[in-house]
Amino acid sequence: MQNTKNTSKNNEIIENNEKSKLLLAPMQGLCDDVMRNLLTQIGGFDECVSEFVRITHTVHSKSTWLRHVPELANHNLTPAGVPCVVQILGSDAEMMSVNALEAVRLGANKIDINFGCPAPTVNKHKGGAVLLQEPELVYHIVKTLRFRLPENVDLTAKMRLGYENTDLALANAQAIADGGASLLTVHARTKVQGYEPPAHWAWVKKIQQHIDIPVVANGDVFTLADYQAIVQESGCQQIMLGRGAVIRPDLARQIKQFQQNVPVQAATFNDEIIVWIQQFVDLCCAKESNNKYPVARLKQWLAMMKPAYPEAVVLFERIRTIKEIEQIKPILHDFRA
Ligand SMILES: Cc1cc2nc3c(=O)[nH]c(=O)nc-3n(C[C@H](O)[C@H](O)[C@H](O)COP(=O)(O)O)c2cc1C
Repeated sequence: MQNTKNTSKNNEIIENNEKSKLLLAPMQGLCDDVMRNLLTQIGGFDECVSEFVRITHTVHSKSTWLRHVPELANHNLTPAGVPCVVQILGSDAEMMSVNALEAVRLGANKIDINFGCPAPTVNKHKGGAVLLQEPELVYHIVKTLRFRLPENVDLTAKMRLGYENTDLALANAQAIADGGASLLTVHARTKVQGYEPPAHWAWVKKIQQHIDIPVVANGDVFTLADYQAIVQESGCQQIMLGRGAVIRPDLARQIKQFQQNVPVQAATFNDEIIVWIQQFVDLCCAKESNNKYPVARLKQWLAMMKPAYPEAVVLFERIRTIKEIEQIKPILHDFRA
């Protein structure tokens, strides 16, 4: 009897976990393979997404694909074993298909299309959020890719609520679903709203009620309480974490603990986080031997963590003017001691 109860409880948890997926957002220049590696090791994430690979007039070489998505050489998994989706951005459906097929040839089994990037250079070349002004083109892109990709390759998309306003939000979501995408992530803001709070979670619910593919809610989840609120307001079981996952590197782990009904234990800076920072620096140094990359990435990360951890403010001040990573490493070591 006891066993039966435990088994059914486990099944319930497994079922809930299946439904309550946590995804790590694509973030150009922030969530590269090193950050994806570290954050998925810390735990809590079911899936992550690569930085976008921009598709123009050429077919990218193998080395380009592997530079953007090294996970391709590891069965699409981060070193921690978390699946990584390849994100592409463009507007030429044919070229996007040819390139996506090349990614598939290199091992990709999930392709995500970016309909949300707000960057002016990207939008000027008709990529990202600007496409949300043309739902017919959104449909054409998704439909063409779905038609050209093998059936066993998943095709998903990520959109904002619109370009200037939300007038076409439902039309775009419908276009993506009708085109044959299996899942849609919605960053609950328009392009014009940029990253200005709040994210409009109620809109995600409207979209989910309008289309019959699963919708992932995204935007402004910085704490466990935000997670509880977005689930409540959006009605979605699948949530994507962006900046919040970088600011609090154990946010996904906290959420998973909450989902599994075990005590939520937030990491402390001097205990776990400083160790992760050292690991991050080591991974950056292993990726690029010059000073620029590890120093820039460390300062970028610490600056983001400042609002969450007073220790990050102190550490950032200590390294702010230093340009040599070998001079920074002992400071990190002493900070930990
Ligand atoms: C630095 C940065 C880069 C981003 N790059 C991408 C990208 O390449 N593709 C994409 O779909 N979204 C991109 N986004 C948007 C995020 O995936 C996410 O939708 C957004 O940050 C909202 O989630 P958040 O409030 O949890 O950060 C980026 C966001 C940031 C802050």
